[in-house]
Order: sequence, then C-alpha cells, then structure tokens
Amino acid sequence: MADQLIKGLEGVIVAQTSSSKIDGQNGRLFYRGVPIEEFVENNALYEEVVYLLWHGRLPTRSELDQFMAQLAEERPLPEGIAEAIREYPRSADPMVVLRTTVSLMAMYDENPDDLSPDNLRRIAARLLARFPTILAAFHRLRQGLEPVAPRKDLTHAANYLYMLNGEEPGPRSVEGVNAYLVLLADHGMNASTFTARVVAGTQADMYGAITAAIASLKGPLHGGAPPRVMATLEKIGSPENAERFVEEALERHERIMGIGHRVYKTWDPRAKILREMARNIAEETGNRKWFEIAHALEQAAVSRLASKGLYTNVDFYTAPLLYSVGVPVDLMTPTFAVSRIAGWTTHLMEQYADNRLIRPRAEYVGPVDEHYIPVEQRG
Ligand code: ACO
Repeated sequence: MADQLIKGLEGVIVAQTSSSKIDGQNGRLFYRGVPIEEFVENNALYEEVVYLLWHGRLPTRSELDQFMAQLAEERPLPEGIAEAIREYPRSADPMVVLRTTVSLMAMYDENPDDLSPDNLRRIAARLLARFPTILAAFHRLRQGLEPVAPRKDLTHAANYLYMLNGEEPGPRSVEGVNAYLVLLADHGMNASTFTARVVAGTQADMYGAITAAIASLKGPLHGGAPPRVMATLEKIGSPENAERFVEEALERHERIMGIGHRVYKTWDPRAKILREMARNIAEETGNRKWFEIAHALEQAAVSRLASKGLYTNVDFYTAPLLYSVGVPVDLMTPTFAVSRIAGWTTHLMEQYADNRLIRPRAEYVGPVDEHYIPVEQRG
C-alpha cells in the first residue's frame, strides 16, 4: 500500500472526521449524524449548523443568542482592511479579493499563531463573520457605491443580502440563501478542505490554511461550476429551447453543467432542496425565467442521463437561486466560500487537535546517473 501510486488520492482515506458523512449510493448527507433535510425542514439557521459543527452539538437558545451576538460584533471590518479593499482594482476577481483579504486579516489579528481550541474558535468566528462583509463591500465599491454596514438584528444570510443589495431582502430570499449556506457547510474530504488540512498539518496558522483553501476552491474543477450553469441557462434563453439544447449537446458529446457527481450516483440531496428554494424565490421576486429554464433543462437532461447515474448536482439550482437574489455570476464561487468556511474551520480544529504532518511521497520517474556539466562546457 505504502509504495502504490494513487493519482489524485482517489479512494485514499487521509483523515478521520466527525463533521459530515456522505452516503453517495443513497444520496444522503449528514452533519454530525443529522440528515441535512432536517435542518431545512425545520428552518434551522446557518448559525445553528455552524455551532453544531464546531461544538459537536446544537446550541441552546441562550448559546445561540450569544453566538449570534459574537458574529454581529465581528462582522464590521477594521479600518485598515476596509481601506485596503477600497484600493483594490475594481476589475479584480472576487475570489482573489476574498483570498487576499483573508491573508491580510492575519496581520490585524492580535493572536493568529495560538492554536489552542478557544483561540481557534475565536478566529473561526471572525473569519466566518467577515466573509460576507468583505465580498459585499468590494461588490458595492466596484459599482461606484458605498459599502453598507452590517445590521446587528439580521441573521448571517439576511446580512449578506442586505450588504450586497443595500435593501432588506424578502423572507423567501433569506430562507433560500440560509438553506444554501446550510447545505454547503461541509462535504467530507473535498479538495479545498484537504488543502486547508495540509497547511494546518505544518502547524501554520488558520488564516494561512483558509487562504489556501480559497485558492483551491477557485479552480473550475471544484467551486467553479455555478457560473457555467448560469452561462448555459443564458444560452438556452427560454424553457422551450431546453430539449433541443440537450439533444444537440449530447450529440456533440458535450457535458451539461450542473449534472453528474463523483460521489453521488443518484440525486444529490442538496440539489433536490435547492430546487424548491429556487422555485420559492422565483415566486417571491416574480422573476421566474431562470428557474423555469433550469427546470426544463433538468427534465430534458435527466430523462436522457439518469440511466448512467447522472442527475443534477448541488451547483445546478445554486445558479438560478443566487442569481435571482442579486448575487452576480462572479460572486457565486465566493458565496460557496461564505458557506464552506464552516466546514473548513471544523476540519482545521480536528487537524490541529490530532495533528500529523501531511507528507506523502512522489515516485521519481526522471533521469538517473546524470552528471553536472560546468556552464563553459555546455553545448
Ligand atoms: N453531461 C453529460 N454526460 C456526462 C456528464 C454531464 N454533465 N457528466 C458525466 N457524463 C458522462 C461522461 O461523458 C461519461 O460517459 P461515458 O461513460 O459514456 O464516457 C460518464 O458520464 C461518466 O463520466 P466521468 O467523467 O467518469 O464521471 P466523474 O465521476 O469523473 O465526473 C463530474 C463527475 C466531473 C462532476 C462530471 O459529472 C462533470 O463534468 N459534470 C459537469 C460539471 C459539473 O457540474 N461540476 C460540478 C460538480 S459538483 C461539485 O463540484 C460541488
């Protein structure tokens, strides 16, 4: 086993976790043993899920109030960080903005290198609280608008929408974005989570590990699918074009974005819930166009591809859902990070608590028995 080359580490178990469990065969996902559907059915706040992941149990009412007050305290950005964001080029990729600002945050933290559990939870809360503030501030500034300060009376999901759009969001929009944040909070050992753990494995600080995780999430093979789903919906333009679009795409052996998953060979449980949330938001905003095109595309694609175990994945309805509540296409992957910071920090707490340097090996396949030739003698 130790000498075997396993490209992409596929099937290799690299850590133990008590955070989330995926049952790909049956299309199930659990956080600390609780099926994700139960959080959404009971309108659980994202904040409750974060508490559950970090502490291993759901908060009592007073613990939840305290936690939400802590996040409210942490949400505003220190002056130096707010000023730095003002200087960023308006054309910057918001994923780069988030990655850079998280790295910057380490310089403004009074105690970034203390890896004790209490300090890790403090840093995790700061990071989680500030992701929406950073992204919304940059999004406002690039439109020539002033950033909107967070409100202490709004939840995490509501604050994000409020700071982005400058107006209080409708209840369906908040419910949909809260559900989105809940559903993407953690997902086993994915690429960005592994990246974060590798950094933490050297006992480097949490800011560095999260900066690296964001860098990893940016790639199109990980967090980059929703913008491509949105591009597909725009290309289709109207629900009645969906059948022909799918037929022609499959004839050309092209992949349909938002369909298929490495782990789920049935419905992705998150996609099913997001479909209903996207439908509700379409009703509330009166903008049904993107949901209806997505729904027609799903029906056309799944009827042809289900026999191969291909169904809509989490990214499929994320695109129309986020777009309809005012999250532009290039903020979709950063919004994934707004949710996944919960899972990343949970895995980091696990890694720091039971650390072993992550140090695999490479198989050398280069030349052997070569010799150094002094520069004057090289032809
Ligand atoms: N559309 C059409 N056919 C597909 C699709 C698709 N979206 N996905 C897979 N297939 C087909 C393949 O062509 C292949 O067919 P074949 O056996 O006839 O050659 C078969 O299904 C198996 O494909 P693999 O690439 O082996 O499946 P894998 O598990 O490696 O891929 C992946 C999973 C990468 C997600 C793939 O389904 C895909 O590219 N989907 C579209 C992009 C996407 O939505 N990405 C987001 C994933 S979810 C997430 O990252 C959070």
